[in-house]
Amino acid sequence: MPEPQITVNGHPRPLAGVPAHENLLDFVRGLGLTGAKEGCAEGECGACAVMVARPDGDGSRWTPVNACLVPALALDGQEVVTAEGLGSPGDLHPVQAELAVRGGSQCGYCTPGFVCSMAAEYYRPDRTAGPDGFDAHAIGGNLCRCTGYRPIRDAARALGEPAPGDALAERRSSPAPAIAATRLAGFARPRDLAEALALLVEHPDATVVAGSTDWGVEANLRGRRAAYVVAVDRVPELRVLSTDGVVEIGAALTLSEVERALGDTVPLLAQVWPQFASRLIRNSATIGGNLATASPIGDLAPALLALEATLVLASAEGDREVPLADFFTGYRETLLRPGELVRSVRVPTPLAPLATFRKVAKRRFDDISSVAVGAALDVVDGTVVRARIGLGGVAATPVRALATEVALEGRPWSRTTVEEAAEVMATEGTPIDDQRASAAYRSAMLGNALRAWWAETAEPAHEEVAR
Ligand code: FES
Ligand code: FES
Repeated sequence: MPEPQITVNGHPRPLAGVPAHENLLDFVRGLGLTGAKEGCAEGECGACAVMVARPDGDGSRWTPVNACLVPALALDGQEVVTAEGLGSPGDLHPVQAELAVRGGSQCGYCTPGFVCSMAAEYYRPDRTAGPDGFDAHAIGGNLCRCTGYRPIRDAARALGEPAPGDALAERRSSPAPAIAATRLAGFARPRDLAEALALLVEHPDATVVAGSTDWGVEANLRGRRAAYVVAVDRVPELRVLSTDGVVEIGAALTLSEVERALGDTVPLLAQVWPQFASRLIRNSATIGGNLATASPIGDLAPALLALEATLVLASAEGDREVPLADFFTGYRETLLRPGELVRSVRVPTPLAPLATFRKVAKRRFDDISSVAVGAALDVVDGTVVRARIGLGGVAATPVRALATEVALEGRPWSRTTVEEAAEVMATEGTPIDDQRASAAYRSAMLGNALRAWWAETAEPAHEEVAR
């Protein structure tokens, strides 16, 4: 087995002696690469962003991630580029040059993170040069406290095509590094699912990580340490996606990978992605991790509940399939047994023709939900024949809005029905007061979510206009 190492800015850097809890940010800063900064240590500011070469078809894609969240050991064998690897004071990268000439940096604390997110977007294969080619959401996970965003946006909009001979552009046409199995003190990255399941039997107290966007926060801010880490983010059996019959999504696919692979195949999920955290988070967070951590305010579960998704759970004894609606058993608790992993998420088809995802949060993007609503309706000849609604932020777990579904089914999709159902919806769950929202606000937002959706979608022929 080769010596564990990460290639950082083209140079191999050994991982020997690095503890399992050390994140990539501390690792690169320990190498003297102090451009990447710690602003929040929980994935919200992007000051720590670096680029990683990730698989993309037969080639690779420069993918920005929050280095503060991912364990350094999880990058064994991988290629990382920091702001220092992009350019130097005498030889600026085009992104750095545009930021400099357009006044896109003042104190500079956030700038290396912006540079990495912007460079990854610069190298996006289907980006076009020019003002509208740069997707501003690419930097949605980077916060700046002093410059103001307009000059940063100006720099982004001024970017042209990579020049011929640009090494990072050329790197995209060859595959991302093969994933080697890793066995280090306190940390293992299994080669395949069988090895992952055997490791869980061998280490019943192991912490399973994939993108580490949840575990990284626990380690950074709460000082939690795992007795043993099993990293499943590269297990091939957990990285398959199929749309043949049911839509089956491998648990270790990142949200960005699922977003790209599905496109508009599942319109309800296509509505979720832009509202889910930031691009930096979606590049690491996995669909299985998002569900297995069982957050009551995760944005994916309400949508998948509305889609009547099931989970395939794998263990050494074999697979079992459970409805997502039964998976959450309490606050941060699930049906997962010791030694069991989420293998995939299945979404049955055909999909309900009318679907929505509504997130109420203090900021439009890159924020945690106060409440989230996923809903899918079959409306035939103006009558709701089937309603499925998932809610987040109103109970200790994501829940189905069962009473509201009953209030809708068999009735016309009309203002009257929606008004009555909205009253029912406002009583769903057991919301609490916390720093994000009061219980009363959460309840009011549930009902309003239904009203707003109806107002956007109702056809005049189905409308009972109240006069
Ligand atoms: Fe803020 Fe990593 S330090 S996202
Ligand atoms: Fe100071 Fe962005 S330049 S935080």
